[in-house]
Amino acid sequence: MSGRRIVTEWFRVPSVWALLEVQLFGRADDVTVWSGACGTGEEAYSAAITLERRSICGQVLATDVDRANLDVARAGRYELKALENEVNEGRLWADDLWRYFEPDTDSRFLRVTPAVRERVTFDVLDLGVDPVPACDAALLRNVWRHLSPGAQRRAAAGVRAALTDEGRLYLGGGDLMRPDGWGGLESVAPAGLVEHFAEAEHSLIWRPRTPHRPSAGE
Ligand SMILES: C[S@@+](CC[C@H](N)C(=O)[O-])C[C@H]1O[C@@H](n2cnc3c(N)ncnc32)[C@H](O)[C@@H]1O
Repeated sequence: MSGRRIVTEWFRVPSVWALLEVQLFGRADDVTVWSGACGTGEEAYSAAITLERRSICGQVLATDVDRANLDVARAGRYELKALENEVNEGRLWADDLWRYFEPDTDSRFLRVTPAVRERVTFDVLDLGVDPVPACDAALLRNVWRHLSPGAQRRAAAGVRAALTDEGRLYLGGGDLMRPDGWGGLESVAPAGLVEHFAEAEHSLIWRPRTPHRPSAGE
């Protein structure tokens, strides 16, 4: 697994994870978090650890278009050095490292614990082409920017239809949404988090617009 390198992190943009936790904590029903471009798994397992840490009932659906990334993600095996770096940079808590990872047969690696792995299922999904799964939180972070306008339009309509009323779409810092959220989504701007992202299209968090206003061509 270790040869594959994509740009991703554990708990990428920590303040967003705090807001995801706030969104999901205390829910009586089962929640589903969809990591729609899960890469090599760091984002999906970060979501699973968030659920596990707070004993939130629910699961993570982790999808990606790239099967090789999914193979790495499924293995749940990460270099100790890279994980220590995440701790040093303040994204992964040292406590979580010891609670949610276990030794691998190769001492240079740690594996995500079965309790965390069992929360996550993996599948192939091409954004803008395949149907969007029903979910409470859709993480399309650091992939949105790579989608064509047509794929963004289809994905936004799919996300709008798939999200529960209280659902949220989470994007990455460089992922520009069309300011009207393609007609179906509106920006959420929690105080302090996105104050430096003054324009709506830079917002990291979106929610279903009510009532739904279809975008052109939908
Ligand atoms: C930079 S990684 C982002 C990983 C993670 N979401 C994060 O923010 O750290 C981008 C991922 O998007 C995936 N990707 C690119 N185009 C895609 C598409 N059309 N559908 C699904 N995944 C796609 C790539 O395979 C890659 O794993």
